[in-house]
Amino acid sequence: MTLTIEEMAAFCKRKGFVYPTAEIYGGLAGFWDFGPLGVELKNNIKRQWWKTFVHNRTDVFGIDGAIITNKKVWEASGHAANFADLMLISKKTKIKYRADQFIADKLGINTEGITAAEVNKLVKEHKLLADNGEEFEEVKPFNLMFETAVGPSQGSQNIAYLRPETAQSIFINFNLVADNARAKLPFGIAQVGKAFRNEISPRDFLFRSREFDLMEIEYFIHPDKLQDCPFFADVKDLKIQVLTAEQQEHKKQHAEVSFHYLVDTSLASPWHAYWLACFYQWFLELGLKKENLRLREHMKEELAHYAGACFDFEYKFPFGWKELQGDADRTQYDLTKHGEMSGKPMVMYDEESKQKIVPYVAAEPAQGVERLFLAILFDAYEDDKKRENIVLHLHPSLAPVHVGVFPLVNKLKDKAQEVFIGLQKQFVCQYDKSGSIGRRYARADEMGVPLCITVDFETLEDHSVTVRDRDSTKQIRVPLATLSGVIAQFFAGAPLLSLGKEVSVQVVKEE
Ligand code: GLY
Repeated sequence: MTLTIEEMAAFCKRKGFVYPTAEIYGGLAGFWDFGPLGVELKNNIKRQWWKTFVHNRTDVFGIDGAIITNKKVWEASGHAANFADLMLISKKTKIKYRADQFIADKLGINTEGITAAEVNKLVKEHKLLADNGEEFEEVKPFNLMFETAVGPSQGSQNIAYLRPETAQSIFINFNLVADNARAKLPFGIAQVGKAFRNEISPRDFLFRSREFDLMEIEYFIHPDKLQDCPFFADVKDLKIQVLTAEQQEHKKQHAEVSFHYLVDTSLASPWHAYWLACFYQWFLELGLKKENLRLREHMKEELAHYAGACFDFEYKFPFGWKELQGDADRTQYDLTKHGEMSGKPMVMYDEESKQKIVPYVAAEPAQGVERLFLAILFDAYEDDKKRENIVLHLHPSLAPVHVGVFPLVNKLKDKAQEVFIGLQKQFVCQYDKSGSIGRRYARADEMGVPLCITVDFETLEDHSVTVRDRDSTKQIRVPLATLSGVIAQFFAGAPLLSLGKEVSVQVVKEE
């Protein structure tokens, strides 16, 4: 991976994946708009997630909660008091920096979980100054929640918050969902939706933005059954690179271990390790490279106020190993707090003990869609020197456009249009008639289109077309009568060359 994050942002803008929002008015830091290809890729990621973790399971139920939330939710959850980053402010002109990032950049040290006292000490010791040479005030916490006022009056009683995580919509609806779904422990509640964090210094393109989509599951179990995960045996031998808190303390490198190591060493419960393994498998299925993924255990001091334990999946971005997904063991914290504050206990009846119990959140896979979007693009991107164009090797299920349809020459446009209209009912197709056929293949490669279909002169006689595979550039000849079936088999996982006779790539004179 040679691309920098700035080069990726430029590529995304050029190809219509992502634009800086309101660019014509100077933009707005930390907010992005998605273009024609970006919205398709983003929707495909969300669709794959929902299919894998909601539709393909019988123990996970979906919801879609409101974005603007009653402030009591955040008082009960602890976010009103604790959801803050440390901020350094210059004394005179009040320039603001996120303290951990500023110190990591200046001193090249790991600042995960750094405390206010440590920041003040390092600033003093190293005589750190703002970029304009000013000294800093004492470091301050800055709450990351966006505040808004609901309705026409602007008093403090009207204050509400844009949700900084989707998890709370799950917790506040727990009793209703459990009843409606007639759910029995263990089970999960899933949600995909917007979240907002007023980051002090948004940066690194989509990586740290102020508005983003989250895909999140809260998985509830009986509080006494943390060790009883019937699914763990299926995944326990999968291997992954892991960086434990102890390795971080002793400045050691990550090492490859099996998921059962996490359980054997009590770093994670079997339920927590099971969910981590499920997501690891999913990332690999989507085409993320094994060598660019690792699990990092949170250090004690960096654990969120609600977490008993937490692991991040980290991806090797061009600016270092950074969080791709967080997954906390959230204990009984949230259901207990909401039960206490609302006076409506969040409990389930336990048939065995004949008692009411507060369910335990054994795992909380919380996936920022944009971070995964970015990691997928980095791993898919290839500057193919032989082809002299960029190729996006996106997994077919994620590709914004499934099929490109080209008339070899303009004279064949009626037949090509007929093929295009026929396929459009089943697949996302793009018709392209401009430029040489090589140029059209190159354009399709850059968009990550897995298959391109060319209608040529022979098509009029043999009622067949050539189908070209983006990754190998190999082509097969397919009768029009079976074309949509062949494409469907390819998208179901069959290699293209297994679906028809390979033909040599013709060199055709352009019109
Ligand atoms: N619910 C955890 C997170 O949003 O990171």
